[in-house]
Amino acid sequence: MATQTQGSETYIGLMSGTSMDGIDGVLADLSTPGKIRTLAAVSLPMPPALRDAFLALNIPGHNELDRAARAAQDLAQIYAQATTSLCRAASVRPEHIRAIGAHGQTVRHAPESGYSIQLNAPAALAEQTGIAVVADFRARDIAAGGQGAPLVPAFHAAWFGCAIPRVILNLGGIANVTVLGQDVLGFDTGPANMLMDLWAQQHTGHAYDRNGQWAAQGQCQTALLEQMLADPWFERPPPKSTGRDQFNAQWLDKQLSRAPGTRTLAPADVMATLLALTTHSIAQAVRKHAAQAHEVLACGGGAENTYLMHELAQVLPCPLATTQREGMPVQMVEALAFAWLAHAHIHGRSAALPAVTGAQHPSIAGCLYPA
Ligand SMILES: Nc1ncnc2c1ncn2[C@@H]1O[C@H](COP(=O)(O)OP(=O)(O)OP(=O)(O)O)[C@@H](O)[C@H]1O
Ligand SMILES: [Mg+2]
Repeated sequence: MATQTQGSETYIGLMSGTSMDGIDGVLADLSTPGKIRTLAAVSLPMPPALRDAFLALNIPGHNELDRAARAAQDLAQIYAQATTSLCRAASVRPEHIRAIGAHGQTVRHAPESGYSIQLNAPAALAEQTGIAVVADFRARDIAAGGQGAPLVPAFHAAWFGCAIPRVILNLGGIANVTVLGQDVLGFDTGPANMLMDLWAQQHTGHAYDRNGQWAAQGQCQTALLEQMLADPWFERPPPKSTGRDQFNAQWLDKQLSRAPGTRTLAPADVMATLLALTTHSIAQAVRKHAAQAHEVLACGGGAENTYLMHELAQVLPCPLATTQREGMPVQMVEALAFAWLAHAHIHGRSAALPAVTGAQHPSIAGCLYPA
């Protein structure tokens, strides 16, 4: 039975991030200012064929316009399935949902060239679900001279901002931090899971190294770690954002072929070094840009990786916890952010922060496809 009381301040957020592991969705009630009530959450795995299609679209290739359009349509089908599951789980009828915030799948991120491409089929999603869709969240900020990323800091500031300065750390494919203090700062710090996932897939056949068990068997190779950290990208000042365009299989191959003696390295040692690259690049960014922080709250899939969290806690200059402590499950934060961004769009509020993205002025993120 439909829950009539949810009214029109009920939103869905759908996120498929750079890890391409799946689609996270939430249905949330935002009717009370300053409050967010999660009514349902769902995670659907990315079908392997679609994942391969997206991965192939990250690099220039034959007939890519057609392949991109088809992959976008396929993603919209899964977004529609997620929407149906969320409505069922919360007993909410589609007509009671104000809008879906659908991120789409990033296949290119080149703000310096004026674009970031999130494949998506919002018209198809609106048609199938009968719900308004807000999509293409990054374009306007990029048009205003920004990076179009990260977009979540405004959400982090709204939900995790408090008197004590702290850092919200999202451990997705890429790691991004939001520094909450007097001013809000936010930027990508480099790879979180992306390179580790890639290496685990190549050497173990598993999608990722569960709880870092394999990495824990290896020895971090200091020379290789230092060489990786010497990539000038890490030293670049914010605003900065990144993706598969920068940290990918070619990047890793280049690093491994350059370092003396790495050909003889055990794969587990490379894995341990990649995990250290994640923890050290994050710690370096926190020391440099959030020296006042009293704590770091982690979210995203990497926050489930117990060994990664243990290693990160060793190198951070302040204590580490997760957003779960604040009542927000780690895997839901990004999807909730896109429900909140849809809400901001519908209410005409700008949510991309120029101080974070480097844009010349604030702008309303997203484009509306009415129901
Ligand atoms: N128990 C676990 N042990 C180790 N790694 C895990 C575990 N659970 C999740 N992960 C990691 O988290 C990743 C998925 O995280 P998440 O969905 O937050 O990233 P994402 O989809 O790339 O999102 P985004 O880039 O937008 O933040 C997986 O690919 C895997 O590497
Ligand atoms: Mg994911």
